[in-house]
Amino acid sequence: MYFKDNKKEDRLSSQLKNNLKKRKQQKNLRSNMMSDTEITPNKQEHNKQEILKITGNQKFNGTITLSGAKNAALPIIIASILSNQDLTLNNVPNLADIETILAILKDLNVSVVKTSNNSYILNASKINKLICNEELVSKMRASFLVVGALLTKYKEAQIHMPGGCSIGSRPIDLHLEGLKAMGATIEVLPDSIKATAKDGLKGCDFTFSKVSVGATEHLIMAAVLATGKTVLRNCAIEPEITDLITCLNKMGAKITGQGTNKISIQGVKELQKATHTVILDRIEAGSYALAAAITKGSITLVDFPYELLDSFFDSLIKSGAIVEKKGKDVFIQGSKIIHPVDIQTKEYPGFPTDLQAQWITYICLANGKSELEETIFENRFLHVDHLNNMGANITIKSKQHCIIEGVSNFTGANVIATDLRASFALIMAAIVANGVTTISNLTHLDRGYENPIQKFQSCNILIERTKDY
Ligand code: EPZ
Repeated sequence: MYFKDNKKEDRLSSQLKNNLKKRKQQKNLRSNMMSDTEITPNKQEHNKQEILKITGNQKFNGTITLSGAKNAALPIIIASILSNQDLTLNNVPNLADIETILAILKDLNVSVVKTSNNSYILNASKINKLICNEELVSKMRASFLVVGALLTKYKEAQIHMPGGCSIGSRPIDLHLEGLKAMGATIEVLPDSIKATAKDGLKGCDFTFSKVSVGATEHLIMAAVLATGKTVLRNCAIEPEITDLITCLNKMGAKITGQGTNKISIQGVKELQKATHTVILDRIEAGSYALAAAITKGSITLVDFPYELLDSFFDSLIKSGAIVEKKGKDVFIQGSKIIHPVDIQTKEYPGFPTDLQAQWITYICLANGKSELEETIFENRFLHVDHLNNMGANITIKSKQHCIIEGVSNFTGANVIATDLRASFALIMAAIVANGVTTISNLTHLDRGYENPIQKFQSCNILIERTKDY
């Protein structure tokens, strides 16, 4: 029964807000405790976690074959829930986040068969429960999209409240508003959410009040099996969303408007067997391009579609680097002198927020002052302290604005990775720094980059991964 009574609606949203606030307070308390007890370089406590040990003044030169995009593979794996036929996926990266989402599906009794290093056959015809494993879900926010897939196929789904994370509160209001617009009833339990749609989801015309990648993907999947037509407006247009739509249409969905901010989905009864190859990871591409450029080295990105990083490459060229298409590859040569460049992160096709930490690290070595505005997340400068520990000169003016004064080089130090993209940024600083750097808290790195040590080594960069005794 969809909420008609506004009073109930208000009660729900304030209940949800209270629960999210409580979780955030707990989270902040934990993170404050973390920050109070955080292992700072001069108080390094010996522990058994793995660390990276990197000697600086290295030069990056080589060719990188990119992995499949994590942020395309995650929603596409979830989309397998919608079908009762095999979904064969190729070019799926071996990452901790992929293992987590596959474990969540296996826990629901989805058949997951790994047929090669990066290929799987998924089959969701025998799902036998509609409540997601709490411990697994709490590891990764993107797992929340499982709700819409289960709900539109089985009329019910229950999931633990997705955690915020270090880069911001990560609310889910847009996801829930969209599902309710399609007829879902959302029940907020002490720390989980139960969604039901007794008569199934119904197509609707819904406008996102804010551009959201995950909410766009979530509602597209929910609309695939809904009754009637759904029109989603003010959608995100990231390439990973287009890849999800391409895969869903191969499965028999009827979706148009991909690549635009208006997506139309004609609901269907069931989906067919399909095979899909995940697109390349543009954030991995940009990360390694900056790792080469900061060392004034060079890199060839094999088979990489230039247009997936147009805005980023423009900024890299403005900083003095050479970026050019060579056949189907993209070649980047770092500049002897890095020129300062001001950046504002934006939704696609703007400068990607997922390359912000890596860019800040790169522009730390410019011959002048740069400014950066992070418009997508409200707390995505956690790497700044650690870069400043390594001799950078970055001033945070507000939660979303910082000033980077160029310095001649970093100095090796013991630093701690705070989130996925910050992990890569610290490696960039370490490979070029004067002296030796250790980087701890590698769980973030393993979530988002496939075989990074090997990929660096294939480009003349030595990184040691060792236990920290
Ligand atoms: C996706 O996260 C990516 N993750 C993120 O990549 C990426 O940084 C982000 O999109 C932006 O491009 C995956 O695809 C798995 P959003 P998502 O919803 O979907 C607010 C990485 O490093 N918002 O587009 O969670 C939100 O707080 C990760 O690979 C609401 O207010 O991002 C943020 O400020 C990090 N209400 C903004 O929208 C909502 O209901 C954009 O978030 C949802 C989001």
